Amino acid sequence: MLPMIEKMNRMEFLKSLGLKGASLFAVYCAASGLSSCVNESMDPTNPTGGGTGNELILDLNSASYTKLNSVGNYVIVSGIVIARVSTSAFAAVTQVCSHEGRRQVVFNAGEFYCAAHGARFDTSGKGLNSTGSKGLKTYLTSLQGTTLKVTL
Ligand code: FES
Repeated sequence: MLPMIEKMNRMEFLKSLGLKGASLFAVYCAASGLSSCVNESMDPTNPTGGGTGNELILDLNSASYTKLNSVGNYVIVSGIVIARVSTSAFAAVTQVCSHEGRRQVVFNAGEFYCAAHGARFDTSGKGLNSTGSKGLKTYLTSLQGTTLKVTL
């Protein structure tokens, strides 16, 4: 899979060709070959358009995300690993490891971990061993009630 930075560069390139909205999304997904492509130009809660765009909105009452109500658990949504790191805090990082680009990052024992070669990262994305020395791209999270927003 592609690192997030490469995804963004492709998106910007396609935008520069004058593609917009649904056309841009269709071309972007087809060109990138992503199995779980996210429309980065739309609010996922409002797929018909509008919204603030570039964010994931997770309802923690939804069966898909109730794991995030317990500290130490995580979910993976559209290539983003989202973890409950404490009673009041979440962390979100790319699933793509900075070591050799494997899409194998998970949350384990209070830190992010890549099973491919053992890279370790803290909850702010900082590398904790030599394999993880390049760190991980992180995303801002904010919780309002039972709605978690991840800003991409
Ligand atoms: S690709 Fe993640 S540790 Fe090597």
